[in-house]
Amino acid sequence: MKKLRIGIIGAGGIAQSRHIPVLMKLSESASITAICDVNEDTAQLAAKKFGISSAFTDYKEVFNEKTDAVVICTPNKFHAEITAAALEAGLHVLCEKPMAMTEEECRKMIEARDRSGKVLAIAYHYRFMKEAQAAKKLISENEIGTPFAARARAMRRRKVPGWGVFTNKELQGGGSLIDYGCHLLDLSLWLLGNPAETEVSGTAYNTLSKMPDQVNLWGSFDHQSFDVDDHVTAYIKFANGASLLFETSWSANIERDDESLSLSGQHGGIDLFPLRLNQSKYGMLLNTHSEWLPGEEDYALTQARNFINSCLGSEEFMVKAEEAMQTTRIIDAIYSSSKRELY
Ligand SMILES: NC(=O)c1ccc[n+]([C@@H]2O[C@H](COP(=O)([O-])OP(=O)(O)OC[C@H]3O[C@@H](n4cnc5c(N)ncnc54)[C@H](O)[C@@H]3O)[C@@H](O)[C@H]2O)c1
Repeated sequence: MKKLRIGIIGAGGIAQSRHIPVLMKLSESASITAICDVNEDTAQLAAKKFGISSAFTDYKEVFNEKTDAVVICTPNKFHAEITAAALEAGLHVLCEKPMAMTEEECRKMIEARDRSGKVLAIAYHYRFMKEAQAAKKLISENEIGTPFAARARAMRRRKVPGWGVFTNKELQGGGSLIDYGCHLLDLSLWLLGNPAETEVSGTAYNTLSKMPDQVNLWGSFDHQSFDVDDHVTAYIKFANGASLLFETSWSANIERDDESLSLSGQHGGIDLFPLRLNQSKYGMLLNTHSEWLPGEEDYALTQARNFINSCLGSEEFMVKAEEAMQTTRIIDAIYSSSKRELY
């Protein structure tokens, strides 16, 4: 069987904790040929740690005859440039989320994909979770009717990431919404069938993170230079009449983290995390609870396998770039609705 030869660009947290270990587990169908980081020590150390033969500091050096595809794990600011360059060089791309910082950047990535004929995959891994897969199937089998109202919350209790560049607007394009909320927003849009959005209204806050005496459970950060949102509320209307009520936070004053998504259809509803199906059937209201099967596959492994198989031509990647672009467009519209101010 042909192996996909993959280069890793950006050798930080997500590359080392998720992409590299998962690709190593799939060594029958993929090999890691090179790793690149602008920080030479990071690139060298990661190469040594994972036994990768080539380490570079310039991503263009990864684009050579020994590599078929790249996984892009840099800060958000560089996603569009590196993706377009890799596609133009004839490589397939798995780009970390968010796809890019603006819709215009996403469009350029899609144009590069269309010119190259290569795969452009975006790592919205929540879609690969068992609950998300089951919910999508239940909807496609008309178990709840057409979903018209969705509610999504991606709420962390006092967990602003205290590492990397997550609180740097210049490099990331925003905070809690573009980094964390994007997952639940993307998942909601996908489960609703990605209808066109017609109205987006939102408010972005960073009141809490500006206060130096606040408890943070994920390390420390500079309160003075913190210039991104840490809490966002939004309401989105769609052309098919559906709506989404959305809230995300890195730093909420709540008792515990809350990651939830629920959808209402004409004759039933679905809650995710944990998955529940609520239906009107046989003259009764039935609520079906789910349980995990032992030995189920890890979503990161499923995502990587789907990427490899889509590059080798046997599958389509589940997250379409056009859908990921809609997520970016709505994120941008929420920030614009908030007049780019942080309250
Ligand atoms: N899917 C998820 O749940 C998830 C989780 C964490 C991070 N991410 C995404 O992954 C990306 C990276 O996040 P991270 O947590 O690994 O950050 P990180 O700061 O730990 O690592 C980023 C690395 O990229 C390097 N880098 C910066 N510019 C570069 C360039 N031009 N070329 C090559 N290397 C460059 C940095 O030196 C750093 O080592 C972000 O886009 C983030 O949104 C996704």
